[in-house]
Amino acid sequence: MKARVLSGIQPTGHLHIGNYLGALRNWVKIQHDFESIFCIVDLHAITVHQDPAALREQILQLAGLFIAAGIDPKSSTMIVQSSVAQHAELAWMLTCVTPLGWLERMTQYKAKTEAAETIGDGLLQYPVLMAADILLYQAKVVPVGEDQRQHIELARDIAQRFNSLYGDTFTMPETRLPIAGARVMGLDDPTKKMSKSATGSGHAIGLLDPPNEIKKKINRATTDSNPAVDIETMGHGVANLLNIYQAFTDATSEQVRNEFAGQRYGDVKKKVIEAVVAGVEPIQKRYAEITADRTYLNGVLKDGAERVRPIAESTTRLVRERMGLYNLS
Ligand code: TYM
Repeated sequence: MKARVLSGIQPTGHLHIGNYLGALRNWVKIQHDFESIFCIVDLHAITVHQDPAALREQILQLAGLFIAAGIDPKSSTMIVQSSVAQHAELAWMLTCVTPLGWLERMTQYKAKTEAAETIGDGLLQYPVLMAADILLYQAKVVPVGEDQRQHIELARDIAQRFNSLYGDTFTMPETRLPIAGARVMGLDDPTKKMSKSATGSGHAIGLLDPPNEIKKKINRATTDSNPAVDIETMGHGVANLLNIYQAFTDATSEQVRNEFAGQRYGDVKKKVIEAVVAGVEPIQKRYAEITADRTYLNGVLKDGAERVRPIAESTTRLVRERMGLYNLS
């Protein structure tokens, strides 16, 4: 039997090449080596306010993007998180074994709530729901970008605590990062992670950005003050461009260093633009065709929910049993 993989992306805003290189591209690569479940995490999205009509639309668009990027819905299972009620059910059970201090320590929670006037409880519970997504399916491997590593460690801690309180129940999940692109930085400020919520127009490259837009953004990207690439002393901006190039071309870091050492930034950027455009263009073409067929997308998501429901039901039944909750016979 193949081990199970689970990962998820929030249907909020436009996906950028960080989401693609950190997660989606890696999913496509490993999907056939595992029994794969890929999740559109709409319950996570509502931890901050979403316009209902826009959210509904973005869920379908993200499903289209998964397929356009190369997820094969015949062999991999695609689901919308809220359509399998056990995600929320298990999240509650896990909440009850999770110390508050573990959640307050989460870096993303601290970052998201720093400037907020009122903090929704959902933001604090966010990583418990994520642990539930993973543990519900006894997933062994969780392919994500670097920023999710702490959340997966928390999922392990929660699983361990549950197992020691109630007996062996959950499989220990492991983080799987891509070789390159695990942490793509903002083009305008390469000390900050590329993010959907950053506002600057030169910050992120959207997966659906047209080639001229990609060109403009990379040409404006921050580099160093010296005129050419110095591998030993290069700053974050240059390192980020080389990392993006390496990820899109599947080169080794040594190949990239050899190729770019001593090159002028204009030439470097030209190559990076070519690699990014070549990487996203086929996805954009397929996406345009796939999103038009709403009936097909809805069918894929319905089929996905039906496929995983028996697994979800069997895990929550076991958890109810272990915790002493009542299982109707
Ligand atoms: P989300 O929607 O913020 O991001 C989706 C995926 O993209 C990766 N990522 C990046 N990778 C490289 N460089 C970047 N700049 C970058 N920005 C984002 C993220 O690491 C992630 O893999 N909590 C998760 C979604 C989630 C989940 C799960 C993931 C919910 N349940 C269960 C795995 C397993 C999130 O918000 O991802």
